[in-house]
Amino acid sequence: MNAATLLPQAERVIEVRNVTKTYGSGATAFQALKGVDFPVNAGEFVMLSGPSGSGKTTLLSILGCVLTATSGHVQLMGEDISKAKEGDLPRLRRSYIGFVFQAHNLIASLTAQENVGLLLEMRGSSQSKARAEAGRLLDDVGLGDKLMSKPGDLSGGQRQRVAIARALAGSPPIILADEPTAALDAQNGLKVTETLRALAKEHGHTVVVVTHDNRIFHLADRIVHIEDGLIQEHP
Ligand SMILES: Nc1ncnc2c1ncn2[C@@H]1O[C@H](COP(=O)(O)OP(=O)(O)OP(=O)(O)O)[C@@H](O)[C@H]1O
Ligand SMILES: [Mg+2]
Repeated sequence: MNAATLLPQAERVIEVRNVTKTYGSGATAFQALKGVDFPVNAGEFVMLSGPSGSGKTTLLSILGCVLTATSGHVQLMGEDISKAKEGDLPRLRRSYIGFVFQAHNLIASLTAQENVGLLLEMRGSSQSKARAEAGRLLDDVGLGDKLMSKPGDLSGGQRQRVAIARALAGSPPIILADEPTAALDAQNGLKVTETLRALAKEHGHTVVVVTHDNRIFHLADRIVHIEDGLIQEHP
């Protein structure tokens, strides 16, 4: 039994038990997850690793309330989402999740501050409040001096940190990132990973990063390996 299983339930921000996911049906059905357990505690910085096609994005999408599991138990912040319908997912996502994608998906014509602020405005903040909050979030990821820069004027790592600041809009307790360093050189990859780690260690977020990138493994609290839709207990 590892330390994670000994911690009290209240600390358990993510609880995934015996989750399966089948894409399609009938002759074309494909079982991408075959009974996965994935508990994560508050403030943990966990990396999820495994070969291409092993089910990493599928698991992250279920945690991120983008997809529903086919069977099994999923709980976020104590709320059971196993029975959630497609229509419930946007509310759950807004309440609990900040997503960082491999491609940063920033809007080229907007400054860093506008890119982050736009999401806050869409969620109902006034423009001035959104701008102030965006400035604070960009400062948190080490970009306090780049508020007025457009994505084209930033390095790949800086762009990815703007995307992290955007994921933080609305203070979601859980931050999920799918291969956030895949397109970056070693130095930028480390900086982005250090930024994600700081969200967990300094700001109390719970952070799960999908990655193949062995240059960043040393920064994880815990590395979970998945292969062929199953968590490998002893990699
Ligand atoms: N929408 C879908 N319909 C059918 N099969 C899918 C779908 N999405 C993923 N799969 C299959 O499920 C399996 C797991 O896919 P997933 O995207 O989770 O893998 P991954 O570990 O993230 O891979 P990669 O490292 O290449 O991103 C793969 O075999 C994939 O082909
Ligand atoms: Mg993937």
